[in-house]
Amino acid sequence: MRCILSKLREEIEKRRTFAIISHPDAGKTTLTEKFLLYGGAINTAGSVKGKATARHAVSDWMEIEKQRGISVTSSVLQFNYAGRCINILDTPGHQDFSEDTYRTLMAADSAVMVIDGSKGVEAQTRKLFKVCVMRHIPIFTFINKMDRDAMDTFELLDDIENELGIATCPINWPIGSGKDFKGVFDRDTKRVMTFADTMKGTKEGSEEEFDIGDAKLRAAIGEEALGILEEEIELLDGAAAAFDQGKVDAGQLSPVFFGSALTNFGVETFLKHFLDMTSSPLPRESDAGLIDPFSEDFSAFCFKIQANMNARHRDRIAFMRITSGKFTAGMEVFHVQEGKNIRLSQPQQMMADDRHIVDEAYAGDIIGVFDPGIFSIGDTILTGKEHFSFHGIPTFAPEHFARVCQVDTMKRKQFMKGINQIAQEGAIQIFREYNTGMEEIIVGVVGVLQFDVLKFRLNNEYKVEIKMENLPYEYIRWISNEGVDVDAIVGTSDMKKVTDLKGRPLLLWVNEWSIRMTQERNEGLELAEFSQD
Ligand code: G4P
Repeated sequence: MRCILSKLREEIEKRRTFAIISHPDAGKTTLTEKFLLYGGAINTAGSVKGKATARHAVSDWMEIEKQRGISVTSSVLQFNYAGRCINILDTPGHQDFSEDTYRTLMAADSAVMVIDGSKGVEAQTRKLFKVCVMRHIPIFTFINKMDRDAMDTFELLDDIENELGIATCPINWPIGSGKDFKGVFDRDTKRVMTFADTMKGTKEGSEEEFDIGDAKLRAAIGEEALGILEEEIELLDGAAAAFDQGKVDAGQLSPVFFGSALTNFGVETFLKHFLDMTSSPLPRESDAGLIDPFSEDFSAFCFKIQANMNARHRDRIAFMRITSGKFTAGMEVFHVQEGKNIRLSQPQQMMADDRHIVDEAYAGDIIGVFDPGIFSIGDTILTGKEHFSFHGIPTFAPEHFARVCQVDTMKRKQFMKGINQIAQEGAIQIFREYNTGMEEIIVGVVGVLQFDVLKFRLNNEYKVEIKMENLPYEYIRWISNEGVDVDAIVGTSDMKKVTDLKGRPLLLWVNEWSIRMTQERNEGLELAEFSQD
């Protein structure tokens, strides 16, 4: 028994589960690919994504989506490195951006933020960052593309601090950028690793390392670069926040690293430090208190539901984050929200470019289980005697809205069934006009691609054709005050009142500044960007 428990502890202790967030094109895919190369999970660069060769990303594993030419999934990649078992949760960007992107962050224990050194903080990073802050998870920053001309390093750090409101602590420091990029200085070991652009695609770096006082360093990077480095280090040591693991754990301080994912520079250093600075799976809040990941009893929650895994059957896969204990294939679990015992069939896990059936998985891992339509986002499954539910996954503010109705009025029933079902899976949110008695449905989505998915699925699965009229609103807030008189709320001319499926009132605006105006006009009105239930 003791032996089994120590194996359980060992397996869980070596898990690290994190999400990568960035604005499209900052280099998230390239960095992920380099991680996988170090882990030996793939052998050649370009396996993850090769836009130029139109190769499909490892992440684009949904056959049905490939056929449709769209990808709406967030994928999970698992690999081993330096005795650790690493789960990377990809957060899709570009037009694939959706509420799932946010939900994925609910399953991660920490986040890696990839920033393009020439651009600083960009819109999508800002959005995803807010969710990380809400969860108080550690956030690590990798400033990428240092082989290209970058912003001034101090300005980059200011940008992160001002835009995102998080303190930064550079772990290393770049020496120049673009064609003058000479390498990085490690502030802890006081050693410089010089940059040589000869490493594309391989995992063996041919960097050289020198102590800052080593005469050979002067020859390697040049007098001028060394002079600038010494000046900057002095400035930095006087101004930057000291490294504080407690603050990193609380998501208040972001360790910052510099490198170039494409040329494979600084990636392994980052990975090593990152793994040392992050923790194994953490306890999770439930209605019975914190659940210890090392508990012998298995528990997990559902953070994402993927419909149409197989075009011929209307099956769905529920993605579960294991929160405690061990999962074994075919095990019977209690589904708390349904109040029933169920057997989890066809559990699957991602490994690089392959989806496979899992025999066992541990706290920290993500499994995809076949869902005959019983799971909802936020559901808990467990094996222990004590029954509890994990805190639900918030609903995130949609940013695109459309009025939707069925073309054939006779098909109202199918339309409502389909649209409710798709909303229950969490792919869209549905609202109604407030107090107008109008039957029309307003659909809100985080990513505009979800409208196409809705249209496609209603037609394909429910045989309903729909009409969609885009609405100009972009901002939505839940009203957090209890028992507020919605009729009495004085808004701006671009404001609209709606209710959600549970009858809760929400406000919509076209312009962001109208939110503040509305708050000013209605003293005490509390507005929330996420809904917690
Ligand atoms: P994403 O997943 O964040 O959207 O970014 P991705 O890794 O696809 O990178 C976007 C582009 O930036 C790619 O070029 C990639 O090669 C390039 N890139 C990534 N990291 C670095 C870096 O450290 N230095 C430089 N110079 N470029 C980098 P692309 O031409 O758009 O695509 P591809 O044809 O190379 O795939």
